[in-house]
Amino acid sequence: MNNLPRVLLLGGTTEARRLADALSARDDLELVTSLAGRTAAPATAAGRRRVGGFGGTDGLVAYLRSERVAVLVDATHPFAAGMRWRAHDACVETGVPRLRLERSGWEALTGDRWTVVPDVAAAAAAISAGSARRVFLTTGRGDLASFAPAADGCRWWLVRSVDPPARLPLWPAEVILDRGPFSVEAEAQLLTRHRIDLLVTKNSGGDATVAKLRAARALGVAVLVVDRPPSPDGPSASTVAAALDWVCATLGISTAG
Ligand SMILES: NC(=O)c1ccc[n+]([C@@H]2O[C@H](COP(=O)([O-])OP(=O)(O)OC[C@H]3O[C@@H](n4cnc5c(N)ncnc54)[C@H](OP(=O)(O)O)[C@@H]3O)[C@@H](O)[C@H]2O)c1
Repeated sequence: MNNLPRVLLLGGTTEARRLADALSARDDLELVTSLAGRTAAPATAAGRRRVGGFGGTDGLVAYLRSERVAVLVDATHPFAAGMRWRAHDACVETGVPRLRLERSGWEALTGDRWTVVPDVAAAAAAISAGSARRVFLTTGRGDLASFAPAADGCRWWLVRSVDPPARLPLWPAEVILDRGPFSVEAEAQLLTRHRIDLLVTKNSGGDATVAKLRAARALGVAVLVVDRPPSPDGPSASTVAAALDWVCATLGISTAG
């Protein structure tokens, strides 16, 4: 092990990859990106990588100590609801400074027909109670089971995910495997071709998947927006540049590299 300060970056997002690009180019720190290992073929990130859970808060505490981590940046997805709390607790226990890097959420604009719900269970309940007959689900394969109560045969489902769902508890349904970025034109064509009358999305924010909302606005399609889960208190950044500044300031090194 060298004497360079080590940065542990909890990844799985575009922002984490961009921060990894910036940090791995420096010779005054060492970067380790950690991935949960959920995606079969994750987009590559610069720098060293470790894959798989730590084994809860205790496992992360042990890792932070054994690897002599100097700072932790939690750049997990806005909807990865658990890791941020384990990162918070482990950093409190070890005294390792922690930053939450989370991109801003999307906001409704004029012409949007949004209904905001607190979680996917509430989204499923709203679908059951509503009149939509052709639903486009973009909430990810991990949450499909939550929509099963709304699969009563009264509506058709279009499901889009990066990797194939292990099980499809919805019927009748069609699955599209695809990863953003998507264009507004292609999203509008998809909504039109499948006569979608309800789009369901998490409020993930960012550019890669915002086109579906622009297309829905242009076509007047209703959208169910699942709100973000809560985050622990503490330092946070919504941009990669601000996170880079925080890492450098916390380590006492120049932002210029
Ligand atoms: N949820 C989403 O919508 C979504 C979307 C895109 C990408 N992702 C990415 O996929 C990963 C898993 O998402 P999730 O919703 O299952 O997260 P989660 O509920 O916050 O975390 C569940 C468990 O997965 C492990 N884990 C999560 N992120 C990790 C990381 N970066 N490195 C090592 N272990 C990690 C941890 O296991 P241990 O307790 O054993 O350490 C954690 O307790 C996250 O890294 C996230 O950034 C999630």
